Amino acid sequence: MSNATPPVEALTEAEAAEELATLAAEIAHHDRAYHQYDAPEISDADYDALRRRNAAIEARFPALIRADSPSARVGAAPESGFAKLRHRVPMLSLDNVFDPADFAEFCARVRRFLGRTDPLSFVAEPKIDGLSINLTYEHGRFLHGATRGDGMEGEDVSANLRTMDAVPQRLRGHAPALIEIRGEVFMTKADFLALNEAQAAAGGKIFANPRNAAAGGLRQLDARITAGRNLSLFAYAQGESSEPVAETHWEYLQRLQAWGFTVNPLSRPLAGEDAAAAFQAEMAADRAALGYDIDGVVYKIDDLALQRRLGFVGRAPRWATAWKFPAEQATTVLKAIDIQVGRTGALTPVARLEPVNVGGVLVQNATLHNEDEIARKDVRIGDTVILQRAGDVIPQIVSVVTERRPADAVAYVFPDICPACGSHAVRPPGEVVRRCTGGLICEAQLVERLIHFVSRTAFDIDGLGEKTIQEFHALGWLHSPADIFRLPEREAEIATREGWGKLSARNLARAIEARRTIPLERFIYALGIRRIGEANARLLARHYGSYVNWRAQMIAATVVGSDERLELGSILGIGPTIAEELADFFGEPRNRATLDTLTAELTVEDATQVETADSPVAGKTVVFTGTLETMTRPEAKARAESLGAKVTDTVSKKTDLVVVGADAGSKARRAAELGVQTVTEAEWRTLAGID
Ligand code: IVH
Repeated sequence: MSNATPPVEALTEAEAAEELATLAAEIAHHDRAYHQYDAPEISDADYDALRRRNAAIEARFPALIRADSPSARVGAAPESGFAKLRHRVPMLSLDNVFDPADFAEFCARVRRFLGRTDPLSFVAEPKIDGLSINLTYEHGRFLHGATRGDGMEGEDVSANLRTMDAVPQRLRGHAPALIEIRGEVFMTKADFLALNEAQAAAGGKIFANPRNAAAGGLRQLDARITAGRNLSLFAYAQGESSEPVAETHWEYLQRLQAWGFTVNPLSRPLAGEDAAAAFQAEMAADRAALGYDIDGVVYKIDDLALQRRLGFVGRAPRWATAWKFPAEQATTVLKAIDIQVGRTGALTPVARLEPVNVGGVLVQNATLHNEDEIARKDVRIGDTVILQRAGDVIPQIVSVVTERRPADAVAYVFPDICPACGSHAVRPPGEVVRRCTGGLICEAQLVERLIHFVSRTAFDIDGLGEKTIQEFHALGWLHSPADIFRLPEREAEIATREGWGKLSARNLARAIEARRTIPLERFIYALGIRRIGEANARLLARHYGSYVNWRAQMIAATVVGSDERLELGSILGIGPTIAEELADFFGEPRNRATLDTLTAELTVEDATQVETADSPVAGKTVVFTGTLETMTRPEAKARAESLGAKVTDTVSKKTDLVVVGADAGSKARRAAELGVQTVTEAEWRTLAGID
């Protein structure tokens, strides 16, 4: 949005309709860029501003709300609509065993079935927790590939599989005319963590475990997303084949490698049950150190002729079993609950634990998610808790062993003070997250806030980008926004820093000096108060006119029920929720102090008023009450505002005019009590120059 965008109040109906259409297309485009291609083209703040602008126009012209309105939609449409592909040979699942006795029983069954008494030969393969796929090759060329689906047919994800390095497009050497090759698509722990970090930074979906991340990466309608997800593949089984390719499974694995597939390097041929038990113990010990999640070991009878004789029962082969590891749980003591403050001010509780080994990893911290979660599980400091590693990565507290609760353990009280800066931490109704209100003073949020402060749509300081803010903050030069205006004093010092020179330091100092004068709406927006994007900043600036007035009114509005609070909440496009955010901000004395030091460095320009001086209602505070017959309430408000009037919802001593529609009640009475002038709808139309 450019600065030339007219205020919503000044739009005609035709202009509004046109802009809503443009916004719907524009927002849908950015949704796709973000959700489907993982490639956002604009900042979150700019994106939010577009949505707010859309919402503000819709609020003023409800009749123009489009069927494809972005307000009715969150993010991009869910993925679906893959074509179905039938597997030539069904894709089966595996039976599980959990201990040596179960495994011995499996072996005994196999021997009984085959009428043999000699030791069995197996191939052991780590069981990866990913998703299985079926790849079809014709004359050595990749034809198509599908997910397992219901075992008979799956989803055609060929385009996505083609983006994966681990899926050969051509098989090397001789290959059958037709062959189905099966394997597991998965994500390494490192790729999973990196993906979640990137998703978190972009405000995107966080995956619970590598399996979900891999599945999400493969089941994308846009293959470009799959390409960016670093998916891996271990090949391990066969489906249809137009000619035999091996006599043993081990030999088959060698063929897979020769064709260009990756076979899990830990796979091993084993002679006898005892060797299997030893391998199981070895894998259980090595599990935590592997770069990917495994949840057991698959044991397959090596001889393919025997496999054919053994066949299937139900949906699982008789010739293989998955020996699962026991659930990774441990019991330990919760020593403390620490509150971490995120970059956006969110307070997250972290459990500090008596260190304990969970499946080979020493765990001393676990997430407690949020305050509701603590209350739901009634987790108390001193409690003995059962810990579990979900998806092998993020440890969680499953439950409390209440029998072991110390007599003096008290229910945990979630702090309402930010541990990083001491400001109030508030939890808006309907939200699970409690947030620090000390945006400008809270060290935990400072860098993020300063980056916003200098961004293009805020103070727009050339040469002061994200990296520079981080650099100067690390040097201890930036503790609050006002410090930015003290950077010119450090020009000489900046010039000597790596990557800087005399010229760039001078240019930076000039760019900062050039911004000592700033329009009120940009100033308000730059503060980064929650929910105050460009559109709302503009509404506030227009309504309050000057910085001094805005500051005074906001401080008065911190009092719930005050006229100023009601006035703030009744500004078209603001509403009570946003009024509360502003009140929270101004309710924090140190935010006010920070504002004062900042404005001491600046000249904040008054908001430019629309050219309406000749209207009889210009500068008047108007209240509409009762049912209007010739226009909707939002339309009437908008009209009044476009003539330079201030429209509020409450009648007070400051009200100049009350427009009384049909069935008007208490407001009309209050106007009479206070001696405020009232007019009928028809009189209002004349005043406003409509008729
Ligand atoms: S063989 C007919 N081998 O485990 C046998 N499966 O619980 C088909 N899995 O659906 C499977 N690693 O997704 C086989 N080395 C491995 C495996 C493996 C993981 C998965 C696969 C299968 C599931 C069965």
